[in-house]
Amino acid sequence: MGHILITGSSRGIGRAALEALAARGVPVIGHGSRPKVLADSGPPIIAADLGNPLAAQALWEAALELAGGEIDVVVNNAGRFEANRLDRSDIEWLDAWEDTLRVNLTAAAQLSRLAVLQWQKRGFGGRLVHVASRAAYRGDSPAHWHYAAAKSGMIGMHKTIARAYAKDGILSFAVTPGFTDTSMADDYLASRGGPGLLADIPLGRVATPEEIAAIIAFCAMDAPPSMTGAVIDANGASYVR
Ligand SMILES: NC(=O)c1ccc[n+]([C@@H]2O[C@H](COP(=O)([O-])OP(=O)(O)OC[C@H]3O[C@@H](n4cnc5c(N)ncnc54)[C@H](OP(=O)(O)O)[C@@H]3O)[C@@H](O)[C@H]2O)c1
Repeated sequence: MGHILITGSSRGIGRAALEALAARGVPVIGHGSRPKVLADSGPPIIAADLGNPLAAQALWEAALELAGGEIDVVVNNAGRFEANRLDRSDIEWLDAWEDTLRVNLTAAAQLSRLAVLQWQKRGFGGRLVHVASRAAYRGDSPAHWHYAAAKSGMIGMHKTIARAYAKDGILSFAVTPGFTDTSMADDYLASRGGPGLLADIPLGRVATPEEIAAIIAFCAMDAPPSMTGAVIDANGASYVR
């Protein structure tokens, strides 16, 4: 099998997915916004700040070179979740909107496009796995319009790709986690009053990064092709659709 590129795998859900896939013996390539060494013998981590419009293409080219031209799966996982209150100045609000859309949606679109073009050129398929969010369907807090909009956009993009390129063997899967126990969720829980939030989750706890990683690994390697276009929820039944 060719390589699997996982964005945002320096920590959190992405790192758990990187480790889960590496443990299965698959060649994986990691990514983070800054240079970082996970372990001497661990998978390579490419640094690329996806807030820079040129970074997604540079990341793709660097990963393709590392993989000797053979990337079979791209996992669009990198994401930011920063509050953007309406009472900020107009320009601050707009800048924060643009930054979140760029990292959470536009960079994923750029990478998906480059992967689809590459896979069409080589003549056999590949897989995209998009890590979206429950917020895509449910919406988010008043300070996170941008986050919910980016994740909804990701789901629309995912479904479009699945429908357009299944004929070329190019499959697309999406995962929509609810709260997951990473630094991102810690900040969120704290900002929303902490454990009280758990009352809304019938399972009684947030997800672990390993649980979401297991779904990512399934989509990347095991999901049958007929599942292309699917969106897999993982939210402890806090949002059942
Ligand atoms: N945790 C949750 O509750 C939750 C719920 C639903 C969906 N999700 C989604 O799951 C994905 C992973 O979330 P997480 O909780 O694991 O997040 P996390 O622990 O905060 O990690 C975020 C990852 O994205 C990378 N990243 C952030 N901004 C970047 C930028 N400008 N350029 C390049 N890389 C950037 C980070 O790299 P650095 O380490 O270099 O900063 C890191 O690897 C995200 O798409 C998130 O929206 C999370």
